[in-house]
Amino acid sequence: LVLHGPNLNLLGTRRPELYGTATLAAIDESLVQRAQRAGVRVVCFQSNHEGALIDRIHAARGNFDAILINAGAYSHTSLALRDALESVAIPAIEVHLTNVHAREPLRRHSMLAEVCIGVVAGFGARSYTLALDAAMAHLAESRP
Ligand code: DQA
Repeated sequence: LVLHGPNLNLLGTRRPELYGTATLAAIDESLVQRAQRAGVRVVCFQSNHEGALIDRIHAARGNFDAILINAGAYSHTSLALRDALESVAIPAIEVHLTNVHAREPLRRHSMLAEVCIGVVAGFGARSYTLALDAAMAHLAESRP
């Protein structure tokens, strides 16, 4: 399950010098294709609403083996998203297009990182494909 948080629906036109020119639809399509080649199903969902993201995390229990989440600004603020990820106990990877550690200090702290198996940040749209590869490798290694 790939979750995108607030403002990521604007990718392509939102500060392209920072976030790149790829649209969210293009990113989702490349993830679906890449996963398909590996025999894995990917479902993508974007919302600007914290509760909608939390509902998707809850519904993922029993339906998805891993979560990739770019929670946008909620990454830095949302205790509720962190609790949701912790509650479902599905391996999750935090994703950011930008290197949040090289930006404003307020972006350096993540509410989610501690309940994720890893973080990928700073590689633009490639952050998502790197995270997908990491999730697939993690699952392959953790299966008996
Ligand atoms: C972001 C980084 C966040 O700090 C920011 O609020 C975003 C995008 C990224 O992908 O680089 O919305 O998550």
